[in-house]
Amino acid sequence: MSELNKIALKIILSGKGILAADESTGTMTKRLDAVNVKSNEDNRLNFRNTLFTSESMRTCIGGVILYDETIRQSFGSKTIPEIISDSGALPGIKVDTGAKVLAGSTYEKITEGLDGLRERLKEYYKLGARFTKWRGVYSISDKFPSKLSIYSNAHALARYAALVQECDMVPIVEPEVLMDGNHSAKVCYEKTSEVIKKCFEELILNKVDLTGVILKPNMILDGNSATSKVSNDQIAKLTLKCLEESVPKEVPGVAFLSGGQSEIEATENLNLINKANKTKFIMTYSYGRALQQSALKYWSKDIEDTTGTQKVFNHRAKMCSLAAQGKWSKDLEIQS
Ligand code: G3H
Repeated sequence: MSELNKIALKIILSGKGILAADESTGTMTKRLDAVNVKSNEDNRLNFRNTLFTSESMRTCIGGVILYDETIRQSFGSKTIPEIISDSGALPGIKVDTGAKVLAGSTYEKITEGLDGLRERLKEYYKLGARFTKWRGVYSISDKFPSKLSIYSNAHALARYAALVQECDMVPIVEPEVLMDGNHSAKVCYEKTSEVIKKCFEELILNKVDLTGVILKPNMILDGNSATSKVSNDQIAKLTLKCLEESVPKEVPGVAFLSGGQSEIEATENLNLINKANKTKFIMTYSYGRALQQSALKYWSKDIEDTTGTQKVFNHRAKMCSLAAQGKWSKDLEIQS
């Protein structure tokens, strides 16, 4: 077993998943504005540190994806990566620099950040990171995603992943097909399959060790403005079919993004996926909003109430962890 494979498994095995706390300062500001909390460095640190020191970090969270600001911060005498490592989870870091309009298109995006990446990775490793994340983003419409966007983002994801492994870290490869639009789940299945297949074609071309990669895909959903919706069972079935057909067997696991699903939807769908999972892939979570939303709302009412906020977060993390084992049910959502 390679060292990279060991790291990947440590993050996603035994009902553990990933806390995606890698919102850029711009995105975090939008999240804090929405709950009427001022977005300054202290508040961003306080909320995140409250999550990182929760009990569920030991039992439900295998890795935390950080943003550049957070990986450099300390709380008391310890750095944030030390606080995360003390809980038994691994610190990770988002290394892309965001999605920009793709030349040759007026709408589609290409994710940037390859220039100088090798040097940045070395620094992040020294700061404690053991895995990384890069997100490619694709839209669905009658014209999109175009071949250009599918190819360009796959190429960037693969070059990123190869550089990350060179620095002894596990790359999370995140091709996110957005849920915006009125397309059907069938179309989402077709487009997501094409996107993921191209990513692996490029990863193989770039000699990436697939046993040391975690895929972070979207689930197969109807567009958020579609008039009719498939059942949760269908979502699980189509998601599994897509992954089984598109992901090489060497890949140890899949950690889904929540992508705008509510906390309960993201939990219920992950649970159904695991119940029906006949593949050899571990299927877990790498949720941002679907792990943090309720905790953020609670915290915003009294930012001194660490215990209460942690209780809300612990519950959500526990529910996600049960879903990652196919052991969740709606009854368990009622908090004592
Ligand atoms: O890149 C996206 C985040 O890491 C996951 O966030 O679960 O809110 O979609 P989300």
